[in-house]
Amino acid sequence: MTDDADLVTAEWRRRTQAEYTSAAIAQQVTLWLIQLGAPPDLIRDGLRIVEDELAHSEMSAVVADDAGGVAGSPVIDPATLTVGGGGDPAAALVASILRYFCIGETVAVPLFRMLRSRCSVPVARRALDRILRDEARHRQFGWDVLDWVLLAGGPSVRDALAAQAPTMLSEVVTAYTVATDGAEPEAPMSPNVLAWGLAPPSDYLDTLAIALASDVRPRLATRGVTID
Ligand SMILES: [Fe+2]
Ligand SMILES: [Fe+2]
Repeated sequence: MTDDADLVTAEWRRRTQAEYTSAAIAQQVTLWLIQLGAPPDLIRDGLRIVEDELAHSEMSAVVADDAGGVAGSPVIDPATLTVGGGGDPAAALVASILRYFCIGETVAVPLFRMLRSRCSVPVARRALDRILRDEARHRQFGWDVLDWVLLAGGPSVRDALAAQAPTMLSEVVTAYTVATDGAEPEAPMSPNVLAWGLAPPSDYLDTLAIALASDVRPRLATRGVTID
């Protein structure tokens, strides 16, 4: 066992847990789509994403085990697997699709591309290949659902999006800052660790800033949602 192995196992164990959160969110969003009478194709896209996220979790668990580090079993905390809705599926859908898909899955694409660019260990590379391929479709699902709710809800939905977006953009930066906190050493990350698909916090935050500015904000602006 080495410190590097422990670091790699701990990070892929964290990803194993995070994919459960993604599965729960996709399942909840898809249930709201059914309850709101969304087109079947959108509903099927959502169900497929639940399956994807479970596959990502399983693949992440394999990488964590193969890395050989010391880490406990994944802890699935029910408190992290609920998405607030306030009893109104339409409002909950708008908030969740913006936060977790239009923002979350859209920034995930360049973030996973960054991780994969230096990843050379086959088992980790296979997991990142699958995740990256799926995330592009998950991103598209978010914008497709957003277009559907905008079509159905009109200006009031646009106003709700514009009101919530600034806080959510800040939240995602905080989430990635917290998610990477403590998972990285103070010293530069070793090539061996990078090869397992990890990256230092500064790389996450740099990639995130570019993604928010060049991928998320322009897509929102195209839909009439401008943020100061
Ligand atoms: Fe995923
Ligand atoms: Fe995803």
